Amino acid sequence: MSVKKILVATSGGDCPGLNAVLRAFVKSATNQPGWEVWGSRQSFSGLLNIPQELVRLNRQAVSGIHVKGGTIIGTTKESGPFNWPVRGADGKIEYVDRSDDMVRICRYADFAAIVNIGGDGSQRMSLALHKKGLPVIGIPKTIDNDLAATDVTFGFQSAVDVATEAVDRLVSTAESHNRIQILEVMGKNSGWIALHAAIAGGAEVCLIPEIPYDIAKIKDFLLRRFDGGKRFAVIVVAEGAMPIGGGPLGEKTHANLSVKLSGAAERFANELAAADFEGIRCTILGHVQRGGTPVSTDRLLGSQYGVRAFEMVQAGDFGKMVSFRNGVMTAVPLEEATAAIKTVAPGSYLVHVAKSINICFGD
Ligand code: F6P
Repeated sequence: MSVKKILVATSGGDCPGLNAVLRAFVKSATNQPGWEVWGSRQSFSGLLNIPQELVRLNRQAVSGIHVKGGTIIGTTKESGPFNWPVRGADGKIEYVDRSDDMVRICRYADFAAIVNIGGDGSQRMSLALHKKGLPVIGIPKTIDNDLAATDVTFGFQSAVDVATEAVDRLVSTAESHNRIQILEVMGKNSGWIALHAAIAGGAEVCLIPEIPYDIAKIKDFLLRRFDGGKRFAVIVVAEGAMPIGGGPLGEKTHANLSVKLSGAAERFANELAAADFEGIRCTILGHVQRGGTPVSTDRLLGSQYGVRAFEMVQAGDFGKMVSFRNGVMTAVPLEEATAAIKTVAPGSYLVHVAKSINICFGD
């Protein structure tokens, strides 16, 4: 029997649950005769590097990895087939398109399928590779939960749990000192992590990119709260949050020219200080939201994504991304999956719930 080879890569930022996806995919593939799975280290760099860094993923390689954070095959945001770093004659790094190389290498190696586990940028790469003729399947991954064609991405719940624990911890110290504790959480241009953690942790204020804030309204809200006898507050700020008339803060980084957001909490702290508030402290939660062992729901979701992705490989259902919709694992065209990011609708029920329990958004 001829063996069919599958290439798997984890791309973009890491995320709790990646290893659960790899394990489920490899187990279901190797349960069938005639399939071989290969992992490309650090996204597709392992395929394109000389010498290549490909790792055989068999049952032994994935045994017990579902509880581990990160990804056993590594990932990167710094290089990809469409933006491969090379040092020019002047010593500066330039980025070149090596996607044709990648197509040639995959055809020569005779990969029957290429599975790319990644977020919005990585799935745009999946689509572009598919358009070049490669048999690509995407699996949605991001703590940000901002992929439009799927109800939820694995990694999100783990990040929310870390952020919620941070809110819980900040509440007790804020109360002891009568302070304003500001917590900046990740999420890029969406406020999902902030909103979920603010509700679950019981924050007083939640600032998200989808609802630009008016500092005067937050000032009134806090003064009313302080006058009522509660002289402390915990404020969750999404890294993409912005005042009315302002924009998100950040700077362009490396190859994919994505914007790395930072500074939202500090800007807001300065605005509060300028409005005569005292005792303000800032915590930037950062990458602890991405690291560590995945919570059980992310392991469960990741396992479902992995199994479904192999079913798609078997069916030859390429050019699609696995998607979890209304409790069902399905598949959507990569075009649809990458058309827009999923943001929090200001009129959604969850925002209504937050407002009903007196969380102020500054609107
Ligand atoms: O997309 C995941 C994410 O963690 C975002 O929430 C955050 O803005 C970004 O990645 C951080 O990127 P980096 O790992 O490059 O610091």
